[in-house]
Amino acid sequence: MATFFEGESHTFSEYLLVPGYSSSQNVPANVSLKTPLVKFKRGEQSAITMNIPMVSAIMQAVSGPRLAIALAQQGGISFIYGSQTPEDEASMVREVKSYKAGFVISDSTLTPAMTLQDVLDIRDTTGHTTMPVTEDGQPFGKFCGIVTSRDYRVSRDDRNLKVSEFMTPASECVTADPSVSLKECNDIIWDNKVNTLPIVDKNGNLCSLVFRKDYDSHKARPEELLDEHKRYIVGAGINTRDYAERVPLLVEAGADVLCIDSSEGFSEWQKLTLDWIREHYGDRVKVGAGNVVDAEGFRYLAQCGADFVKVGIGGGSICITREQKGIGRGQASALIDVCRARDEYYEETGVYVPVCSDGGIVYDYHMTLALAMGADFLMLGRYFARFDESPTRRVNVNGSYMKEYWGEGSARARNWARYDLGGSKKQLSFVEGVDSYVPYAGPLKDNVDGSLTKVRSTMCNCGALDLAELREKAKITLVSATSLVEGGAHDVMLKDSPAENNFRS
Ligand code: XMP
Repeated sequence: MATFFEGESHTFSEYLLVPGYSSSQNVPANVSLKTPLVKFKRGEQSAITMNIPMVSAIMQAVSGPRLAIALAQQGGISFIYGSQTPEDEASMVREVKSYKAGFVISDSTLTPAMTLQDVLDIRDTTGHTTMPVTEDGQPFGKFCGIVTSRDYRVSRDDRNLKVSEFMTPASECVTADPSVSLKECNDIIWDNKVNTLPIVDKNGNLCSLVFRKDYDSHKARPEELLDEHKRYIVGAGINTRDYAERVPLLVEAGADVLCIDSSEGFSEWQKLTLDWIREHYGDRVKVGAGNVVDAEGFRYLAQCGADFVKVGIGGGSICITREQKGIGRGQASALIDVCRARDEYYEETGVYVPVCSDGGIVYDYHMTLALAMGADFLMLGRYFARFDESPTRRVNVNGSYMKEYWGEGSARARNWARYDLGGSKKQLSFVEGVDSYVPYAGPLKDNVDGSLTKVRSTMCNCGALDLAELREKAKITLVSATSLVEGGAHDVMLKDSPAENNFRS
């Protein structure tokens, strides 16, 4: 007869934090959000420490190179999605590793034959107002000129006007050679009173763009996460089927950490994958595993040698696994159980295996709750999908800007390997995710800063100055359904627009 599972199945929204004593030292400016990414022995330090406890989900709609760079600049890590060919994934990893801070590779390049209407469409989709022009429209093509908002404001009446007729042609552009440093680029920008400096090689091909504002923002990035060669740190997703082919390419491309991406991680497939990596790379390659939702699952993956363990089944915003298959568990209860198991495992073995809470974060306070419940870091999909840097299109839906966001288990992603349980059929038997829109929210930096300001502030209310202290001091309480109503604005008629009253992050 089946056993009845003793654990509970609560979600983050069913909990609150009860404030603790805060001293005059408990101010947000004193709070550290540093956290270990991979396992370490008692008395030692993790080989990778993040400056903020955030990683981006291993998803097509979330983790491309642009988001990976933006997140590393804030102190977190992206896991480039694995539901693409190993070669394409490795090339995305390489793009992050070879990125020279401040030198932007254009993702909105025009051809001279395109029209003003094309420019306006690209501007609306990407939010970019400055676009380089190359002969073939490729980011490294022969440089023909540049279009800025000043050019198309002058000529906005005729939407069929060709780009070649209103761009600033290459002959009139101030450009620089790829050997020039960012500091020198900035001097050229100021001396010539331009906002954008195209970097063009001796053959006349475009290499990158330097923006006046990027130099200033680069100087103001104390949290950025760099490897020993001053390159941004980046992770990559792998699966339990083609690791022998994929892992070597990712390692070669410079991935700092890998993560097995699977909807259900308490399985021998994960052990086989971890065994293969250890056999070929020893401990040099760091690899997380998951997802699990209880102590038994955690122990299994920790004993198999996972460098971190990911928690969560069916709690993601685009997930329908629980509806489709009836498996999963409320994210908060799953996390609490797994973190307890991590602490017991540490006591017994002296090895600390960090826990990642994956999916289901809706409000900023959910982040603080998850960290208080014991998560070392959080994996977020919907949250990051809303930003300029996510790889999806920005679209206008009924007058509001939205970004596309689809699950890895949706028919659109076709990530059969994430849901695969064996057999040779490379296809999804049924979907476990949906295709959707999420409200566009602007640049990653502004949003991450805003969310973490709230996290820091709540930590101060709990009397904590770092994440270890938060776990130790946090007093967590279950809330009733009526106290949830009491916690929101109630019994008043709101004056502000619905958007201003939307406290979701
Ligand atoms: P959030 O809530 O941050 O969740 O959007 C992101 C996480 O959801 C998982 N994921 C899926 N789960 N079907 C699922 O059941 C899917 O199609 C799917 N796609 C992603 C994944 O763990 C991700 O990090």
